Amino acid sequence: MSEAMNLFFYGILPYVVLSIAIIGTTQRYITDQFSISSLSSQFLENKKLFLGTILWHFGILVVLLGHLVAFMIPKTILAFNSVPLRLYILEGTALIFALSAFFGLILLIERRLTQDRIRVVTSPMDYVLFTLLFIQVATGLYIAIFHRWGSSWYALTAVPYLRSIWVLNPQIQYIVDLPFMVQAHILNAFLLIGIFPFTRLPHMLVIPFGYLVRPYQIVIFNRKK
Ligand code: HEM
Repeated sequence: MSEAMNLFFYGILPYVVLSIAIIGTTQRYITDQFSISSLSSQFLENKKLFLGTILWHFGILVVLLGHLVAFMIPKTILAFNSVPLRLYILEGTALIFALSAFFGLILLIERRLTQDRIRVVTSPMDYVLFTLLFIQVATGLYIAIFHRWGSSWYALTAVPYLRSIWVLNPQIQYIVDLPFMVQAHILNAFLLIGIFPFTRLPHMLVIPFGYLVRPYQIVIFNRKK
C-alpha cells in the first residue's frame, strides 16, 4: 500500500470507526433501547442454534479476552512465552477456542441460509455481519496456523500500535509491514467496529445479570373454562 493509503487505513480510519461505534451505539441506546438485543430466533429453530451458539460464544469470548489481556499486559505475556512449553500451551489453547468459534459460526451461518423460517427473520445487515465475522475468524485462524507465535509478536507490533491509537498518536510503522492476512484481520476488525451500532452486536453490552438475582416469577393462566 502507498504511504497515503497506510496513513488513511491505520492512522485515520480507526478514529472514524470508533466515533461511529460510540456515537451510534449511544444514540441507539437512548432512542431505541428495546432494539438492543440479539433478536433470538430460538422459537423458530433450536437444535442447530443451541450447538452453534454455544461453540461460537465460548470460542469468541475467550479469544476476545485473550486479545484484551495481551493488550493490557504485553510484557507479562512475553515473559510467560519465554519458556517454549508455556508458549505451546497458550497458543494451543487459543487455537482450540478459535476453532470452536469458527465451527460455531459456520453452524449459525448454515442455519440462517438453509432454514426457511430463519431466512425470513434474517436482515440484509445480518448477511453483512455474518460475512465480516466469518472473514475475521477465518483470517485469525489462518494467522494462527501460518504466522505462528502470534501471542508473542502481537505484543511487539499490534499492542504498541493499538496503544498509540489510544493515546491519539498513531504509530503506524509497527504494522504497515506485517503480512497481508494480518493487515486484512486488522482492517476487517475496523469494519466490524464501524458497523457495530447498526447490527445485533450491541447485545454483548447488555448482559441481563438482573435475572440471576430477581425473585421467581409465577406464571398463572387466568382464563375462564
Ligand atoms: C457478553 C457476552 C455475550 C452474551 C451474554 C451473548 C448472548 C447472546 C444471546 C442470548 C444470543 C441469542 C441466541 C438466540 O438466538 O437465542 C446471541 C446471539 C448472537 N451473538 Fe452473542 N452474546 C455475547 C457476546 C457476543 C460477541 C462478543 C459476539 C461477536 C463478536 C456475539 C455475536 C452473536 C451473534 C452473531 C449472534 C446471532 C446468532 C444467530 O442468531 O444466528 N455475541 N448472543
